[in-house]
Parts: sequence; C-alpha cells; structure tokens
Amino acid sequence: MKITVFNGSPRGRKSNSHKIVEPLLEGAKEAGSQTEEIFLVEHDIKHCRGCFSCWGKTPGICVIKDDMPKLLNLFLESDYAGMATPVYGLLMTAILKNFTDRFLPLATPHIRKNKDGSFYHEGRVKRFPRQFFIANSGFPGEYNFDLLQALMSHQNMVLEIYRNCGGILEDQDDTDEELQKKIGAFREALKNAGREMVTRGSVSRETVAQIHAPLISDEEYMAGANQYWDQQIDQAESEQ
Ligand SMILES: Cc1cc2nc3c(=O)[nH]c(=O)nc-3n(C[C@H](O)[C@H](O)[C@H](O)COP(=O)(O)O)c2cc1C
Repeated sequence: MKITVFNGSPRGRKSNSHKIVEPLLEGAKEAGSQTEEIFLVEHDIKHCRGCFSCWGKTPGICVIKDDMPKLLNLFLESDYAGMATPVYGLLMTAILKNFTDRFLPLATPHIRKNKDGSFYHEGRVKRFPRQFFIANSGFPGEYNFDLLQALMSHQNMVLEIYRNCGGILEDQDDTDEELQKKIGAFREALKNAGREMVTRGSVSRETVAQIHAPLISDEEYMAGANQYWDQQIDQAESEQ
C-alpha cells in the first residue's frame, strides 16, 4: 500500500500542514504502508493554460513541460492521496489550487449527469486513489473552513481534517504543559488515523472526533498570537 500527501503550503517543510501530515504518515508507515509527503512548493508546476489539448489533440497528455507528469503518476500509483493546505482567504492556497487544476488530463471531455442533478467528467483511468483532505487555519473558530467544507462535500473524501488555531503547532519553547499534552493527544489521534487507513480502510468516528477536539480556548489563542506579533514588531523596530 502507498499513501502520498501533497502539501500545498508555501512554508513547505516548516509548515503547520506538515506538522499534521507527519504523524498521520508515521502511523500509516508503522502499519506497513509506504508513505511520501510531496512539498508542492519545491516543484515546478506551471498554471493550466486552459487550452484543452489534453482533451482533444493530445488526449490525456498536457502540453506543458514541467514536474506535473511525474506528480500525476505518483498520485495515480498511490492507494490513498491526501491534499494538505493552510486556509488562505477562506480557501486553499494558490499552490494547491494550481496543482489540482492540472489534473485535467486525468478526465475525459464528455459531460455526464449524476443522479443528484450535478455534472461530471468521467475519469480517463480505471483506478483512482481514495482521497483525504487536511486544512489548518490561523484563526480560531470553525467558519474559516465553511468554503472548503462546501467544496469537499462534492468530493468523495475518506477523511477530512479541519484544524483551527494552527499557530499552536509552531515549534515553541514556552508552550505550557497542559497544551503540550493536548497537542500530544492530537498527534496520537493523527497517527491512529494513518494506522486505521491502512488496517481497516477507513478512519473511525472516534479517531475523527479526537482529531477535532479543541486544543485551546479562543481567548487564550488570541492573547498568545497577539503577544507574539507585538514581540515581533517591537524587535523589528528596535533593530531599525
Ligand atoms: C495570505 C494568507 C491568507 C490567510 N488567510 C487566512 C484565512 O482566511 N483564515 C485563517 O484562519 N487563516 C488565514 N491565514 C493563516 C494561515 O492559515 C495559518 O497561518 C496557517 O497555520 C499556516 O499554515 P502552514 O504553516 O501550513 O502554511 C492566512 C495566511 C496567509 C499568509
């Protein structure tokens, strides 16, 4: 079994997204899966040109020469493929959106109708990986995920992770003991999710609930974040 996560944060290996992906893949690896995290920011992924050549003149093949064919192969050879992103302006990052736009060669051009009245393009290949989605937001609260959740309701995801207060995942020396414990439990729940994907083909409700357990109160998070930025601004001013 192979599980691949495509991380769409511009912060790549230092991202909070990575701090969510890492334990999940660790759990999957422990359960026997091959795992890989792709940091999209490190790859050459040009914008889709909307030329539709991949549907007409060169079926299934994009005319752009960059890293996408390699990444699409990696996607297709995975049993599970995850997409991870920070919330940017209530949506996913442009890096991840750009990446997913380039999936057009995997679809055929003809329009089909679903029973529920929505429309789709059939896949060009027989086997697609099962997919999961991970988002983290810098704000507290849940509304930051509304648009992404609406988008995901049109996809058939095996797991959706929406982690608010993403800033607490940053490496910090002064995190208090209680919060450290909660973050530890969050990481353990993510590991379990990875294990369960491999061992039972789905993630239990219990694990999903543990992943989404609140880690910090809104007020405490706001106070910590505002204090951090005050310090950054003061330091920058003192260095001028
Ligand atoms: C351009 C930009 C837009 C952002 N927009 C939002 C937003 O709409 N809502 C939110 O909660 N956080 C927003 N954030 C904060 C990020 O989601 C937050 O810092 C996240 O933890 C970063 O994750 P990463 O380290 O994986 O990139 C934004 C950050 C940037 C740089």
